[in-house]
Amino acid sequence: MKQIAILGSTGSIGASTLSICEQFPGRYTPVALAAGANVEAAFNQVVRWRPKLVSLATEQHADDLRQRLRAAGINGVEVLHGTSGTIAVASDPAVDFVVSAIVGVAGLEATYAAILAGKTIGLANKECLVAAGDLIMAAARAHQVALLPIDSEHNAVHQCIRGGTAAEVAQIWLTASGGPFRNLPAAQFQHITPAQALRHPTWVMGQRITIDSATMMNKGFEVIEACRLFDLPPRKVRVTVHPQSTVHSLVEFVDGSILAQISVTDMRLPILYALAYPERPASSLTFDLAQLSQLDFSQPDLERFPCLRLAYEAAEAGPAARIALNAADEIAVAAFLAGQIPFLGIPRTIERVLELTPAARPESISAVLAADRAARVAAEEVISRSATSKLLATA
Ligand SMILES: NC(=O)c1ccc[n+]([C@@H]2O[C@H](COP(=O)([O-])OP(=O)(O)OC[C@H]3O[C@@H](n4cnc5c(N)ncnc54)[C@H](OP(=O)(O)O)[C@@H]3O)[C@@H](O)[C@H]2O)c1
Repeated sequence: MKQIAILGSTGSIGASTLSICEQFPGRYTPVALAAGANVEAAFNQVVRWRPKLVSLATEQHADDLRQRLRAAGINGVEVLHGTSGTIAVASDPAVDFVVSAIVGVAGLEATYAAILAGKTIGLANKECLVAAGDLIMAAARAHQVALLPIDSEHNAVHQCIRGGTAAEVAQIWLTASGGPFRNLPAAQFQHITPAQALRHPTWVMGQRITIDSATMMNKGFEVIEACRLFDLPPRKVRVTVHPQSTVHSLVEFVDGSILAQISVTDMRLPILYALAYPERPASSLTFDLAQLSQLDFSQPDLERFPCLRLAYEAAEAGPAARIALNAADEIAVAAFLAGQIPFLGIPRTIERVLELTPAARPESISAVLAADRAARVAAEEVISRSATSKLLATA
């Protein structure tokens, strides 16, 4: 039985992971959970799974959960809070496998702690590798920890890359659905509303990643993530727009062969792959081959989707730019959802913050977090200045 910690248990990936635990009761059991503010969902998960440890984002949320557990007569579950609580969940001695699925850099310290504690990691959180990829990969190598990608594209690459040696890989292709605005004319991008951007054509996900998919910043983060995970330069990590989201990614080998991974658009499959690796347990997540009647692939349009261009530039520029890219995006996406900036204000804010970011190479997670905070402040200043100058609102 694999004992699992889920960082972000109340989110979309967290729920899919628990669904896998439900389907494979003899194989996987959650023993430690970390979530943010959703006390109701955390309470229901504790009632169902009786983990030994659970952590919420703040002391208030933890108190609320303790009260609800007392009222329900549930004892013996330790309730913690904050970063130290999340780290305790990630490094608990009973845990074999950590699913890292807290959204944003909030998941960074706990993921790093899990690596230092020698846990196998199922990595959904992409911001960790974007902001601190060098440190995380170095720690994983030093502690001989396997980082198994849950992000469907990297999971697909992980599967395909088993078909050859590292030296035989010519390049990899990450597929992108193109999001809800794949065919929208450039002139209409200025009118995009949060409600429209939250309607993803193929995947149901958390809010930030859904907006990131609409801007294609999500694909940009995935390019950076792939560079770290598979030790490839940005020019060998290509993006192809594939609206059917059926081919999850491809690996091209030096002899010209291209291996693709095809499956249902359901995150439970990459989660199961990571949990079971190197085995492949039988599952009901099968794919109907009749759906393969049409497969389209095309070049991404970097003019309409400047976030992807910015991500490639940050991938080349170095660690400080990658930290700023993620931090500025997180602030800009929140501002867009709050109605403070237009859709096109997201790339404009990020581009400005990247211009303001000096080159640097943070040598520790705390230095990464300090650089992240500085970039957030810069992004907030850019946004508040734009509110008066209306700079972001004009094309
Ligand atoms: N969803 C997908 O299909 C998908 C695919 C590939 C990669 N990913 C990546 O996986 C990660 C999670 O995505 P998601 O779609 O599952 O996001 P989500 O649905 O928004 O869930 C985010 C989770 O993080 C928790 N959280 C937020 N802030 C926290 C904090 N300060 N401390 C502890 N927990 C905190 C949330 O808790 P509360 O809800 O309780 O506040 C929730 O459990 C992201 O990095 C995303 O890019 C997701």
